[in-house]
Amino acid sequence: MIPVKNQREQEAMRAAGAVAAAVLSEVTAFIRPGVTTAEVDRFAAECIRRQGARSAFLGYKKYPCHVCISVNEEVVHGLAGSRRLGFGDIVSVDVGVVYRGFIGDTARTVPVGGCSPLAQKLIDVTEQALYIGISRARAGYRVVDISRSIQEFVESHGFSVVREFVGHGVGRSMHEEPQVPNYVDGKKSPRLVPGMTLAIEPMVNAGRPQVRVLEDGWTVVTEDGLPSAHFEHTVLVTEGEPEILTCCRTMVAA
Ligand code: MF3
Ligand code: CO
Ligand code: CO
Repeated sequence: MIPVKNQREQEAMRAAGAVAAAVLSEVTAFIRPGVTTAEVDRFAAECIRRQGARSAFLGYKKYPCHVCISVNEEVVHGLAGSRRLGFGDIVSVDVGVVYRGFIGDTARTVPVGGCSPLAQKLIDVTEQALYIGISRARAGYRVVDISRSIQEFVESHGFSVVREFVGHGVGRSMHEEPQVPNYVDGKKSPRLVPGMTLAIEPMVNAGRPQVRVLEDGWTVVTEDGLPSAHFEHTVLVTEGEPEILTCCRTMVAA
């Protein structure tokens, strides 16, 4: 069963999405050469608290951090620690917040100060893949239309999509049906209807698609050690254009 959100629930998802987007924006702006990932996580915790929200990740299956911070060859679910970020690293930050009972989930990869042309291309292709996927999040389309558009775009640029982790429905729970793969898996694919809220999140590797999990039980890394990028938005399927719920809005005084 794929949850379909009513007007009231959609309004709540907008609020949660706005909070997640604001936090991600603040956290990525905080990232600079010399900061440790633990400092980034502590700053993220403060941003989330100031918004009146809580982390959707902390404690989820015993995940120990407020946000996911994944550096270079780390794909997703990286753990904050004593590692100091340096010029040229690329950092993926994934923010999930619970706000008034609903979840906003959003991620982006940023260079630390600057990065190599290849890393920048990887970042750009991953972000574009996300927006191409979002453009297929329309009533009447199927989930596989999102998946196919992302995979084809990424592979046309010589990069690869991760298979082991996928996008997902999101709402009162972080992971709802349907799964939203970034590749065509050949399974029966659900049709999209207005009121569905999806976390679309391409994870793109510069080299081979294979990944493994480190001894810490969380950090997902590329098997070939080449860098990876990750972008994610929470999106509402409507009667017309998809609505991105995790866009960073500018707040205007009433
Ligand atoms: N935010 C991730 C996702 O996009 C899930 C992170 S789970 C955690 O689906 F436990 F690692 F935080
Ligand atoms: Co996420
Ligand atoms: Co997600």
